[in-house]
Amino acid sequence: MGRRRRKPLPQEPINAKIESLAHDGKGIAHNHEGKVVFISGALPGEEVLFKQTGRRRSYDSGEVVEVLSASADRVEPPCPHFQGCGGCSLQQMAPLAQIQFKQQSLLDSFERLGKVVAETVLPPLTDVNQGYRRKARLGVRYVPKKGGALVGFREKSSGYLTVMDSCHVMVPSVGEQIGGLRALISQLEQCNKIAQIEVACDDTQSVLVFRNLEPLPEADLQLLDQFGSEHNLNIYLQPKGPNSVVPLNENHQTTLRYRLDHFNLEYQFVPTDFTQVNGAINQKMVPMAIELLALTEDDVVLDLFCGLGNFTLPIATVAGEVVGVEGDEALVQRARDNAVLNKIDHASFFAVDLQDEEMGGIWLNSRYNKVLLDPPRSGALEIVQKMDKIQPQRIVYVSCNPATLARDADELVNNQGYRLVSAGVMDMFPHTAHVESIALFVNTHA
Ligand SMILES: C[S@@+](CC[C@H](N)C(=O)[O-])C[C@H]1O[C@@H](n2cnc3c(N)ncnc32)[C@H](O)[C@@H]1O
Repeated sequence: MGRRRRKPLPQEPINAKIESLAHDGKGIAHNHEGKVVFISGALPGEEVLFKQTGRRRSYDSGEVVEVLSASADRVEPPCPHFQGCGGCSLQQMAPLAQIQFKQQSLLDSFERLGKVVAETVLPPLTDVNQGYRRKARLGVRYVPKKGGALVGFREKSSGYLTVMDSCHVMVPSVGEQIGGLRALISQLEQCNKIAQIEVACDDTQSVLVFRNLEPLPEADLQLLDQFGSEHNLNIYLQPKGPNSVVPLNENHQTTLRYRLDHFNLEYQFVPTDFTQVNGAINQKMVPMAIELLALTEDDVVLDLFCGLGNFTLPIATVAGEVVGVEGDEALVQRARDNAVLNKIDHASFFAVDLQDEEMGGIWLNSRYNKVLLDPPRSGALEIVQKMDKIQPQRIVYVSCNPATLARDADELVNNQGYRLVSAGVMDMFPHTAHVESIALFVNTHA
């Protein structure tokens, strides 16, 4: 028996009324059969014509082709590639409405997933909404029928790279060079051996790490060198894993640095290190976290998922003692080096897998009275479950995923008796649907 042929997707545009926005920024509607449809580019309250791009058992997907009645929040997307590029999903929405949507998304997650309510909602932290992105992984693919090399993000509706020449959310030193990078790679002899370009920028410089799958011939190295010099970009190569990253030559070797002005601290890092994507928001977020911790010199603080010490060193400027814990050994070393660089001697660091339920060690005991957490998207449930042993008075939780923050808040509030005193959103990733947030938990027993 032959395989059942799939029914083709309708070609003609379909009318829909958008009811709300999903957490990924897509408009939610129902089709004439009552099935849910997720429509990219649509806003709540709008009537649109959309093209159906996918069909699953429980939902369809599509993208807007015409807005029949526009929301008051609709704006002209600043980027000409917005329609196709999957890097951003909210450029059609006014910046203020974006952050309100993210705040609502956070509060909904608390209520629905965490069964908790924040006593106070903190005013959103905002800053510029273009040219902010300092870290990115740009895909690269040589596709002669699309005019040569493509560089950038994947399309919204496919796994293919977008044909794009600029990116408005990347820092301008890189965002304005996407077209130049395409032309550069198209000229290389090994044009189909560059898999991706990792972007890492500091306060003044930009590094581009070319992941080269084969050694590059001298002529290619010269082209890369020339491009870097012309555009003031530091070119690095990555022939193998992350540890193989090297500058193209000594002209491109640089030390990346960022400052936290509020604390008069300077950090050094390498291009593959985790650093916060949005430098301007980081300048505001760290002081806000420190304020919520209400530090005094008597405090002994535990900074979990500490990276290169972004929060640890500012904590050390006030607290009596701070311990930073991080899973990536290279970042732990960077944190130690940054403590020395800033003449901080009461911060110590440990390399620990904080998602290992068996975790332990001398760092894990009950002498801490305050804790800061800044986990990856998967959250921090394993260590949060140990808070009833540490019993800190205050926990400040910085999160890039409201769903895992809400889950962990459920544990802290409904199982361990903490109060969720305040929470708010920070505009770390404008124009994307990513939600960065911060929450303060206070121990009701201490
Ligand atoms: C959102 S980043 C925050 C880093 C740092 N607080 C900062 O502001 O730069 C999350 C950090 O968690 C670390 N991490 C991820 N999984 C981990 C794990 N299982 N155990 C310990 N650290 C982990 C990452 O290496 C990364 O440095």
